[in-house]
Amino acid sequence: MSTRPKRIGIMTSGGDCPGMNAAIRSAVRTAIYNGLEVIGFSKGYRGILENIHYPLYARSVSGIMQKGGTILQTARCPEFLDVENQKKAAKNLRNLEIDGMIIIGGEGSLKGAIALEKQGIPCVGIPASIDNDIPFTDMAIGVDTALNTILWATDAIKDTATSHERAFIIEVMGRNCGYLAVVAGIISGAEYTLIPEAPLNLEKVELSLKKRFEEGGTNAIIIVAEGAGSAHEIANKLKDKIGYEIRVSVLGHIQRGGSPTAFDRLLASRLGRAAVEHLIENKHNIMVGLQKSQITATPLEEVAMSKKKLDRDFLGLALMLGI
Ligand code: ADP
Ligand code: F6P
Repeated sequence: MSTRPKRIGIMTSGGDCPGMNAAIRSAVRTAIYNGLEVIGFSKGYRGILENIHYPLYARSVSGIMQKGGTILQTARCPEFLDVENQKKAAKNLRNLEIDGMIIIGGEGSLKGAIALEKQGIPCVGIPASIDNDIPFTDMAIGVDTALNTILWATDAIKDTATSHERAFIIEVMGRNCGYLAVVAGIISGAEYTLIPEAPLNLEKVELSLKKRFEEGGTNAIIIVAEGAGSAHEIANKLKDKIGYEIRVSVLGHIQRGGSPTAFDRLLASRLGRAAVEHLIENKHNIMVGLQKSQITATPLEEVAMSKKKLDRDFLGLALMLGI
């Protein structure tokens, strides 16, 4: 793309998260403010392959900022892994005279953006995933809202746990990444936090809970990331060993929905704007992100090749404060 883009496309892909709508709104309005046309593609890469799209105007994105989910809908589209389909998608985009794409999604969706770039479509990615597993951004869109949802749930569970003197194993999302669990462990005051990045040592959990029970603790909360093990299986193994009666609560997809927090709305608005402005400046094949409070741009290939490391200090803090 050597000239200024005239028409850009936007889509959300992969797992949804709160704040995607705020990013769509910001990107659409920044584009329109700069004289660009915007086409919205429904259901991620499926929408490009199957030509499901419609024009977006400033008014099309009114009243969506406070809504969770994504007005464009999202999907997982395994067909897009096939290079022939990637060529077809690029052809469909060229037929629509799309000069650039904004792709809002997680690690997988950003890899899809690299595939489109290889077929000659300029792309800018916006990191959106509650897992916070995307490198080169301190926070992805959706993480803060998910944490607030977990916090609301754990506070509520603590009330009933205390009334009954029970231990609760609370399972949070995070198939490969323990960020949500470890931060939730710190801010909810959990006794123990289990994450996929650390070996599962149930003996330590057992000792810690037994000690808490003997000291007269009125409740015990264990946060487990789904990737660290099943909350039900862990509860079965600890049953009858710790003094407390145990209950399990799997928070599930409520963590992916709900109205985005102030933080997520601001982050999404900043990233949506940055994505369009980069496309206008002919800067693409990048992901915009937030690093040390600044908006940054990182080559998509670098994002795809790196793995975000969990801050070990967070785990240390969660475990130390849980004593
Ligand atoms: P997320 O974006 O939330 O990580 P997924 O990993 O499921 O979600 O990816 C979403 C979609 O992105 C996939 O269904 C597929 O269409 C596309 N995608 C994922 N990985 C690749 C890849 N390596 N190459 C091309 N497209 C990909
Ligand atoms: O968005 C990421 C994530 O929340 C993971 O932590 C979780 O395992 C996964 O999505 C579940 O998504 P789905 O039910 O859509 O497959």
